[in-house]
Amino acid sequence: MSRRVAILISGGGSNMVALAESMTGDHPARPVLVLSNDPAAGGLEKARAMGIPTAAVDHKPFGRDRAAFEAALNAELEKAAPDIICLAGFMRILTPGFISKWQGRMLNIHPSLLPRYKGLNTHARAIEAGDAEAGCTVHEVTAELDDGPILGQARVPIEPGDTPETLAARVLPMEHRLYPAVLRRFAEGDRTPVMLP
Ligand code: GRF
Repeated sequence: MSRRVAILISGGGSNMVALAESMTGDHPARPVLVLSNDPAAGGLEKARAMGIPTAAVDHKPFGRDRAAFEAALNAELEKAAPDIICLAGFMRILTPGFISKWQGRMLNIHPSLLPRYKGLNTHARAIEAGDAEAGCTVHEVTAELDDGPILGQARVPIEPGDTPETLAARVLPMEHRLYPAVLRRFAEGDRTPVMLP
């Protein structure tokens, strides 16, 4: 029986596309929902074009009531009954209550070599720090932001003259390799970290 995967997005969904495209053939999982906090997220149209059910829960009408927003998210998720949730460019901070409901079954991709550079502007911070390399991390989601057991990492060199944009353009293709590789292992019950290259 395939593991059912819900993917949460906020924007273009390039990681969602990479994940969805990987779940074919003998892959033990299949995408069952692409869910966004932004009804206008470009990734929703991409998911529809791939024949994946979609839903959107606009977070804006909920204002600061995170619990009410998350209750609406959960209502959509429970309809899809996922075994695994992949956060992929999902830009809302989730409360410990939501996370505890899905903990152990929820992954996230973050554009830095965690534990370095939790939070935002990761590439600018790595360049500013004079780091020789940057990259991305897939981790299990726990109550602490961008923390949790690391399930995979991909490293890229920081080149002289790199800007956050040129570095992001080098990291993103690695995200599209790393996240599907981690999801496949995770769906098989294997938590051995994937390290690229
Ligand atoms: C990516 O850099 C990812 O690391 C971060 O969101 C960015 C956009 O992702 N979480 P996507 O193209 O929407 O998948």
